Amino acid sequence: MDSLSSKRILITGGTGFLGSNLVAALGRVGCKHLLVFHSSEYDLRNPVETARLFDDTGPQIVIHLAAAVGGIGANRASPGRFFYDNLMMGVEVIEQARLHKVEKVVAIGTVCAYPKFCPVPFREEDLWNGYPEETNAPYGMAKKMLLVQAQAYRQQYGLNSIYLLPVNLYGPGDSFDPEKSHVIPALIKKCFDAIHAGADHIDVWGTGAASREFLYVEDCARAIVLATQHYEKPEPINLGAGREISIRELVALIGELCGFRGEIRWDSSKPDGQPRRCLDVSKAEREFGFRAQTDFRDGLRKTIEWYRERVAGL
Ligand SMILES: NC(=O)c1ccc[n+]([C@@H]2O[C@H](COP(=O)([O-])OP(=O)(O)OC[C@H]3O[C@@H](n4cnc5c(N)ncnc54)[C@H](OP(=O)(O)O)[C@@H]3O)[C@@H](O)[C@H]2O)c1
Repeated sequence: MDSLSSKRILITGGTGFLGSNLVAALGRVGCKHLLVFHSSEYDLRNPVETARLFDDTGPQIVIHLAAAVGGIGANRASPGRFFYDNLMMGVEVIEQARLHKVEKVVAIGTVCAYPKFCPVPFREEDLWNGYPEETNAPYGMAKKMLLVQAQAYRQQYGLNSIYLLPVNLYGPGDSFDPEKSHVIPALIKKCFDAIHAGADHIDVWGTGAASREFLYVEDCARAIVLATQHYEKPEPINLGAGREISIRELVALIGELCGFRGEIRWDSSKPDGQPRRCLDVSKAEREFGFRAQTDFRDGLRKTIEWYRERVAGL
């Protein structure tokens, strides 16, 4: 597509964790017309407000990140809200993009859309070969419908829409709110809380046997910029770092980097979530030259430093 720098780019969810990093990454490639808003200004679950957003901003490109997001606890507590909010936001945003003749839509999906039992590494071709893991299925399925919509709208209306599937993200600026945080911030907070309280142990959900893959948030933002610039096909594309770590190893590593030397107590009455997660990331490299750059230890160190300085005050 023509150079991004002159385009009016609407970033839904642009105030969030990934969104704020994406706004910075777009700024670095010279984009000046970035349209960002809060849900209090335009609630994307509401068709009238979504239409008003498009009328008010007149975007040429839409990058749709807005979502109800959270870890296993939040997904289990609010499966209905995660389904409804994510489905409605996506449906309305893509529909308004069509009506407003937007040049390109970039929809952000999630690794939670993959089947519970999927050959590792997860290949894009296996996306439909099974139902997602139960704890995040309503969220994963709602976001997966945006892929169906994007492909259907491309076929019938010629809407240029692409769909990206990021793995679990981490980095400075992540949510450390226990009500919605993902595993890495939750573990960092537990370690610092224990150090602060002089506790000799931390309790961790599950058995530690599950594995996960993590992508540094700045790498993900760079991948979205590259895909927006260079990828034009209907097939979904994984965004990941291409390396897997068990939760057991992750907890040990975070404990070490935080300076927590106490005992880890596993609460196996709590769910592990999906047994394994690791993406095949070769397509993103082939199609638009994306490869994650941040070393995992370095990324964790930066995240911990950010938390220590800004939140923990330790
Ligand atoms: N974080 C991860 O590990 C991860 C992994 C894979 C995929 N993703 C995907 O990446 C995207 C961004 O995730 P994130 O972690 O950056 O989320 P986040 O920090 O929770 O940000 C969510 C964003 O969505 C906006 N939003 C929520 N409800 C809205 C509504 N009803 N109307 C308008 N805007 C609304 C929020 O705006 P306000 O703050 O103004 O409410 C905020 O800007 C999501 O699509 C998510 O599915 C995330």
